[in-house]
Amino acid sequence: MENRSNKKYIGTLSQKEIMKLYAKHVNAPKVRTFKGFGIGIVPGERSGVKFRTLAGPRPSDPPMELFDCHTCGGVYNLGHQNPRIIQVLKDALDGGLDIGDHLQLSEWRAILGKKLAELMPPGITKTTFGVSGGEAVDTAIKFSRAYTKRKGCISAIGGFHGHTGFALATGDPGFKENFLWNFPGFKQVPFGDGDALKKTISDDDACVILETIPATAGVLIAPEGYFSEVRELCDDHGVMMIIDEIQAGLGRTSHFWAIYGGLYENEKVVPDFMVLGKGMSSGIYPISTCSYKPFIEKSVFKDDPFIHISTTGGSDLGCAIACEMLDIQSDPEFLKHVKEMGKLFSKGLEEIADDNSELIKEVRGRGLIWGMEFKSETFGQLAMLSIIKEGVLQNYCGNRKDTLIMMPPLIVKEEEIEEIIERIGKGVQNLKKLS
Ligand SMILES: Cc1ncc(COP(=O)(O)O)c(C=O)c1O
Repeated sequence: MENRSNKKYIGTLSQKEIMKLYAKHVNAPKVRTFKGFGIGIVPGERSGVKFRTLAGPRPSDPPMELFDCHTCGGVYNLGHQNPRIIQVLKDALDGGLDIGDHLQLSEWRAILGKKLAELMPPGITKTTFGVSGGEAVDTAIKFSRAYTKRKGCISAIGGFHGHTGFALATGDPGFKENFLWNFPGFKQVPFGDGDALKKTISDDDACVILETIPATAGVLIAPEGYFSEVRELCDDHGVMMIIDEIQAGLGRTSHFWAIYGGLYENEKVVPDFMVLGKGMSSGIYPISTCSYKPFIEKSVFKDDPFIHISTTGGSDLGCAIACEMLDIQSDPEFLKHVKEMGKLFSKGLEEIADDNSELIKEVRGRGLIWGMEFKSETFGQLAMLSIIKEGVLQNYCGNRKDTLIMMPPLIVKEEEIEEIIERIGKGVQNLKKLS
């Protein structure tokens, strides 16, 4: 990895000092949990598919170089410090952009809105902007309520759409109960089960919200035909279909949209809303988007065009970054590269699973989003730590500790995939020695 150490911003404190300050002023239980796991990763220098820790995994250890297969859930699709993205930010700042003014019109929101409309599944032509994924999800649910004049919302058990208002209400009880967050009309169904949705959906519901590949639930792959059935059930009941491709979209499956050919090449479903975040920023300037079909606009904005605003959502700088990212990631050559790397990655993971069938139940995924399901939660957690020690950052799924989720940056090269696979293999082998 290129050494660009810049002591003004990176390494001003030791890992030990950071942990101490973090515990005192940010989040003590988080520090205690990391200590319990024997890790305390603080990213230092970052470049491409890797970053260097300040120390690690423990404060007394020398810095480690980690392949980033966590990518912050798809934030770093273009790797860390992508030179094209950095150049756009520098040029945009030099060229006079700032966050813009949320009450006025914006040249860059107009440009990004048009670009998204050209790339979206057919008929999704309008976009409202935000800062975080949760904000974009909140917007989609809010607009569904305005259009349908109903309150009900159906989401998947184990799914994840964020920790803000309506987004939190769609989540599992573990995230909500502490905050007394039980919204009337919010229901959950098992993912991938059309019959369960059929029994639950009613004319009182405003929307169904689903990730195309639920990451937090364990990188689940729905049976072919499931999303077509969801579409049909929504149409039958006048319910809005919201698809969250915050992790699975933007080329992650090797198709630009997972819902539109990325999950199954012959199944192209058009939702009413498409929600994006994370990778929209390329890890450089936060932005999220809620795109929707134009018939929804009138019920939201007709009486008051200022009824939904976000001061920093859809900032001019964020929009300029997102436009560059979309140009890169929608290029057919780029998607072809993801497909080729995805084949290599999945082949490597499947071989590891075959060689370690006493530990691993199965691997599943598409393109460069893969889940490795272990035979117990303990194996899953130990495997995560063991693979980190071999130099590959990944994590167990938030609602599924038996399954590791692995999402290398989409720019990963063949030789890097080979090294990542070798290291994952070693990590799993080391686990075998313990069991
Ligand atoms: C699928 C999905 N939707 C929504 C969110 C929420 O995004 P944010 O953390 O930016 O609010 C996440 C975050 O992990 C996510 O993975």
